[in-house]
Amino acid sequence: MAVVDPAEIRSGDIEELSRTVSEAEKREAIREVESAFPTAFTWDYEKGARPALDKLYEKAKHSQWDAQTDIDWSVGGQIDLARDPNNPLNTLGATDEGPLGKLNAEERARLGHASIAWTLSQFMHGEQGALVCTAKIVQSVPWIDAKYYAATQVMDEARHVEVYSKYLREKLEWEFPINVHLRDLLDAVVSDPRWDFTYLGMQIMIEGLALAAFGFQYQMSPDPLLKQITRYVMSDEARHVGFGVLSLQEAYRDLTGAEIRERQEFCYEAALRMRDRFLSQEVWEELGLPVRECSEIMLHNPVQMEFRKVLFSKIVPNLKKLGLLDAGDGWLRQKFGELGVLQFETFEDTGTEYERMQLEEGEIRAG
Ligand SMILES: [Fe+2]
Ligand SMILES: [Fe+2]
Repeated sequence: MAVVDPAEIRSGDIEELSRTVSEAEKREAIREVESAFPTAFTWDYEKGARPALDKLYEKAKHSQWDAQTDIDWSVGGQIDLARDPNNPLNTLGATDEGPLGKLNAEERARLGHASIAWTLSQFMHGEQGALVCTAKIVQSVPWIDAKYYAATQVMDEARHVEVYSKYLREKLEWEFPINVHLRDLLDAVVSDPRWDFTYLGMQIMIEGLALAAFGFQYQMSPDPLLKQITRYVMSDEARHVGFGVLSLQEAYRDLTGAEIRERQEFCYEAALRMRDRFLSQEVWEELGLPVRECSEIMLHNPVQMEFRKVLFSKIVPNLKKLGLLDAGDGWLRQKFGELGVLQFETFEDTGTEYERMQLEEGEIRAG
C-alpha cells in the first residue's frame, strides 16, 4: 500500500481553504440557521439513574464562578504584550516566507496583536456555538440526569462567551469575524436533527480541539489575566467533554455497524477540516496581505503543522474511549493513522483530566 504524506491529505483545494466570510455576511448582525429536531420530555424523574452524570451535575453546581467578580481584571491584558514579538503565542510571525519576510517591526507587532485577537475571537465564536448547542441538548436529550447537567453547561458557556468578549473589547480592543469554516461546522452541528450529533460535533470534536488549544495558551501566555481566564474556562471545558463521553458511550452501545460508520465519517471529516482550515485567513485579510498566499504558507509551515497536530491530543483519546476509534472494522483508526495522529491515543482522556483541572472550593474568590 502506498504511504501518503499526511500533509497531502486535504479537505479541499487552497481556493476553498483560504475562503473568508463575505463582506455582506460581515455586515449582518444576526445569523439564523434552520433546525428541526424532536424535543424530548421525559416522565422518568428518577435522579441518579445515571450515577456518573448525576455526579457531574452535583459537581458542576459547586464549580460555578463569576466572570465579573472572580477574575482579577486589573492585572495584565495589555496590548503591548500582544504586540511583543517574544510573546510565545505569536506563532504567526515565526516565518519569513513570502510576504511575511517583508514586514517591518511595526507591521510585525501589529501581526502579533492581530493573531492573538484572532485566536481569542474564534474561541469566543466557538463558545457561542457551545452555548447554543447545549441549550439544544437540554431540549433533545431523553435522560433527566443529562438534562440537569446540560442546564449547568448552558450557564458555563454563557460565562465563557462573556469572559472572552470582555477581554477582547476591553484589553485587546480588536475583534475578528468568525472563521467561515468554523461557522460552517457550527451550522452543521446545530442543524442536525440527531441529538447525538450535537454532542459528537460540539462536546467531543470542537471542545476537544478547544481544550488542546487552551492548554497551549495556559502554559505559554505571558499575560497573567489571560492565564487566569484560561484556567477558569478549562476547569469547565474538561467537565463538558467528560459529559459528552459519558453520554455517548451509552447511546452508542446499541447502534448498527452502518450507524457507527456514519459517525466515524463525521468525526474524520470534522477533524480534517479543523486541522487544515484554521489558517488565520481573516488576519491576512484585515492586514491587507494576500490571503491565499499566506494561507498556503501556514499550511506548509513546520511550526504550524506541528501545532495543528497537537490539537488532536484530546480528540483521539476521547474517540478511543467512546469506542469509535476501533468500532466496526477500525475504519477510523486507519484514517487517523494516515493523518499521523495515532500517537495521541495513549494520551490522558478528558474524563481523567477534568478531575485534575477542577478549581478547588477556596480557589474561586468570594464575589
Ligand atoms: Fe466553553
Ligand atoms: Fe464547553
